[in-house]
Amino acid sequence: MNQKTAIVTGSSSGIGKEISLILARNGYNTFATMRNLDKASELKFIADSENLQSLHFEQLDVTNPNSVQDAITNINNKTGRIDILVNNAGYGLIGAFEDTSIDEVKDQYETNFFGLIRTTQAVLPIMRKQESGLIVNISSGVGRFGIPTLSSYASTKFALEGLTESMSYELEPFGIRTVLVEPGVIKTNFFNSTIVAKKSQDSNSPYHGFMRSMEKNFTELMKNNSSTPEYVAKVVLESITADNPKLRYLAGQDVEQWMDAKRKMTDEEFHNMFKQM
Ligand SMILES: NC(=O)c1ccc[n+]([C@@H]2O[C@H](COP(=O)([O-])OP(=O)(O)OC[C@H]3O[C@@H](n4cnc5c(N)ncnc54)[C@H](OP(=O)(O)O)[C@@H]3O)[C@@H](O)[C@H]2O)c1
Repeated sequence: MNQKTAIVTGSSSGIGKEISLILARNGYNTFATMRNLDKASELKFIADSENLQSLHFEQLDVTNPNSVQDAITNINNKTGRIDILVNNAGYGLIGAFEDTSIDEVKDQYETNFFGLIRTTQAVLPIMRKQESGLIVNISSGVGRFGIPTLSSYASTKFALEGLTESMSYELEPFGIRTVLVEPGVIKTNFFNSTIVAKKSQDSNSPYHGFMRSMEKNFTELMKNNSSTPEYVAKVVLESITADNPKLRYLAGQDVEQWMDAKRKMTDEEFHNMFKQM
């Protein structure tokens, strides 16, 4: 059987790191990509200790068109094919909507949304020629419902949900499938690297109360109801190995509960439930 080639963006930590590992451990020729290769040392150590010869590293910054194109060209030159792309790179932007500057929102889109578009468009001509491929986009529970102080971040994930659902129709005739993985709260660096909108850092912001209660809620969710990045990686592997992958996979008990509530409740009931958190 020909070894399949997989590319994972944002593999320096968290979910991307675990996806790269699980794919390499399961025999995929895996390219763990990251914007700063100095951050590959932990993955390299694990790869060496497990003798994971199918794990490789490539520099890729999703916000830089040359970096994306060079990485995809290098990988394709080495392997001659690209079977799986996992668009995972992303970060959080927290802040009240009114407090968030347009530049902060643009930066957020540049990574979470345009970065994904850039990388996917670089890979598609290769998948289309080989008449097969799978694009896995790491979305979020907040790609399905909005919550206070995460309007910009949630909107990038809503955007990629619409993008993925729409492009699935166009790509299926070429043998290319698309998948959305929607994690709940996951224990990673995500919350440490989340950017807080400048104006929302000010205790005089009229939205300071929202910021404080969301901070408290996230801390509690993280402590009591979060899942591990290894769990998300397992869900991603499940989608990749499925004969007929679903469009959406939830990843985490919390997000399963929320989506269950969303299915059973009216929008107003769901809104009131979150208001009470
Ligand atoms: N943790 C959660 O609760 C949660 C929930 C739902 C969805 N997600 C999504 O899961 C994905 C991974 O997040 P995580 O939780 O694993 O957080 P993480 O540990 O902070 O990992 C984020 C990864 O994205 C990379 N990245 C950021 N900007 C990049 C860029 N311009 N180019 C390439 N890579 C870039 C980071 O690289 P550096 O190390 O260089 O910064 C890092 O490797 C994100 O898309 C996030 O939105 C997370």
